[in-house]
Amino acid sequence: MVKRIAILTSGGDAPGMNACIRACVRAGLKNGYEMFGIHNGYRGLINDEIEPLGRHSVSEIINRGGTILGTARLDSFKTLEVQRKAVEILSSHRIDALIGIGGDGTYRGLMALSKLGITTIGLPGTIDNDITSSDYTIGFDTALNTVIQCVDKLRDTSSSHQRCSIIEVMGNHCGDLAAYAGLACGAEMVITTDTPVTKNQVIEFLQQQRRTGKQHAIILISEKITDVHEFAHEIAHKCGFETRAEVLGHMQRGGSPSAFDRCLASRLGVFAIDCISKGVSSACCGIVQNKLTYYNIEDALKLPQSSTVEFVRTSQLIG
Ligand code: F6P
Repeated sequence: MVKRIAILTSGGDAPGMNACIRACVRAGLKNGYEMFGIHNGYRGLINDEIEPLGRHSVSEIINRGGTILGTARLDSFKTLEVQRKAVEILSSHRIDALIGIGGDGTYRGLMALSKLGITTIGLPGTIDNDITSSDYTIGFDTALNTVIQCVDKLRDTSSSHQRCSIIEVMGNHCGDLAAYAGLACGAEMVITTDTPVTKNQVIEFLQQQRRTGKQHAIILISEKITDVHEFAHEIAHKCGFETRAEVLGHMQRGGSPSAFDRCLASRLGVFAIDCISKGVSSACCGIVQNKLTYYNIEDALKLPQSSTVEFVRTSQLIG
């Protein structure tokens, strides 16, 4: 029977991770577990950066961005040798369960540890919204609102100068941030990995917009598709539309979590403890059609990525 539970955050930080840590710790303590925090993700785990967490260790953090535990990416965690070291460290603290908050890399680490006998639960924490076993990930809503604020500001200057703004947003290989923000900001065009367009199609679209008297345009594009600075030059050169590129970058990951993210994070934290109490392991929790649920991690990682096609089409029709 599980007695001691540790929590780590791993991969890119996301607003709401702290609210989730707080919920896990407080619900865990109330259910009679001893709770521990592992600093700096899997790297901290193999370096034995572990400390007990009490009720007050997680005071005043529900509203804070980032993660009080710190986070890291550790490529070598893919090797069995490093995974065994992690199990040794956990055993030396008599920790029998691990909650990992992060993205698919975090889930893979947990799956490996569960095969070595540790009870593991994954919670979706990433601004990318690319965990298919949950309709929403912790941090997505806050990042989306940050993107919207930035795009609204860029629209002011872009329309004043009769320019085109091409704005790159994060998301790794998932287009949700671009698709949702594009729709919410009334972008003229949204480009994601699953709604590809050629550069020539973009240029033709802008030329046609110009012919109909449009003086400015907002294009939202997911990261990892093209170099937006070079593309801005090409647009300006080929259609005479003065164009500026903006890469919103890491500011999208910061800030106080939205109400939605605080609630989602808190609900998932408590649900993770409930799962452990019921003997669930090697599972990842999520929210699907507004219900908390869990999947086997291995199955969850095989689920196909959700599509942005409907969002992008809707933007295109009304943008
Ligand atoms: O996964 C979150 C994320 O912010 C992605 O959107 C982005 O591609 C990546 O992390 C950036 O990683 P790093 O912080 O290592 O530059």
